[in-house]
Amino acid sequence: MAFYEAYSHPVLIRYRTSVCTKATLFLFVVLCLTYISPLLVAYRSQGFWVKRSTYEEQPVVRFQYQTLVVASTNTKGDYVAWSTFPNFNNMLGPNLRIPTISVQEQDQNQDGKLDRLILDMQLPLKPEEEVYSVQLLLTFSYQLFRMSTVVMQSLAYIQYSSPVPGAQLFVAGDLKLQQRVPLPHRGLYNVYNVSVIDGSSPFASAYNLVDIIRAYHELTTALSCPSPVWSVGRATGSPFRLSAEISYPLETIKCAWIQYVSVLLVFLWVFTRVQTFVFQNQVLPTLPVPMVKPHLMTRTR
Ligand SMILES: *[C@@H]1O[C@H](CO)[C@@H](O)[C@H](O)[C@H]1NC(C)=O
Repeated sequence: MAFYEAYSHPVLIRYRTSVCTKATLFLFVVLCLTYISPLLVAYRSQGFWVKRSTYEEQPVVRFQYQTLVVASTNTKGDYVAWSTFPNFNNMLGPNLRIPTISVQEQDQNQDGKLDRLILDMQLPLKPEEEVYSVQLLLTFSYQLFRMSTVVMQSLAYIQYSSPVPGAQLFVAGDLKLQQRVPLPHRGLYNVYNVSVIDGSSPFASAYNLVDIIRAYHELTTALSCPSPVWSVGRATGSPFRLSAEISYPLETIKCAWIQYVSVLLVFLWVFTRVQTFVFQNQVLPTLPVPMVKPHLMTRTR
């Protein structure tokens, strides 16, 4: 009668040793190499092992009470302006108009994080002045905590112009995160925690809107404002009114994380084989105990 292999299973061999032996040291070194080397590999070859994913977070946004407003009063380039920066205001001379402002930040869903900013500005004008365009810049501090701690200073920029002089501009929009690079998945990320406007600067260039927007960086916020409302028909002598409702929405954030587990699997595979070789061939002296029946095992111990 022909025999065939009905079933097979590997034999378990135990290798016994005491604590202070070369074998123990070997095991310890292998353990360290298995779990620490993948970390080093992952750190050194970030580009290859980095995985990208996304998560959602409600950012912590605070209005910083820094404002810069410029309104053109005719189509020839005359303007009036005001800011919260004394150096800039001093440079304005007769173009300075000090508005009345009310600002309110609200936490509508009571989650402890502010959800929107309501700003109302009334810009006084001389009787002969009209407003054809408005530029408004507001700065915010913006923070994320869920994965990495991100701290940055950001801005909202509102601009509107019309061929018809206006009485009021109303904007309602979202302060959206603009992310060109994925964030690290942990740690502190504060490279963009720098002022959007250098309020201490005595030079006009520091307050130039073109330069401010140009210097603005890879991680930013921008106001998405689909439908600004320009109202006309301002009564002579009444101020120009600028109202803004800016929401701080829930953000989907791109992040990068190092794929430790995938590297670890490779190391586990390699080192399991190394250990099998070392013990099977008795490279280090240990006492092999072949698998025995359970009732005999108690006796061998
Ligand atoms: C961010 O900048 C502000 C003001 O410049 C500073 O008070 C704060 O400590 C900074 N935060 C971090 C985490 O760097």
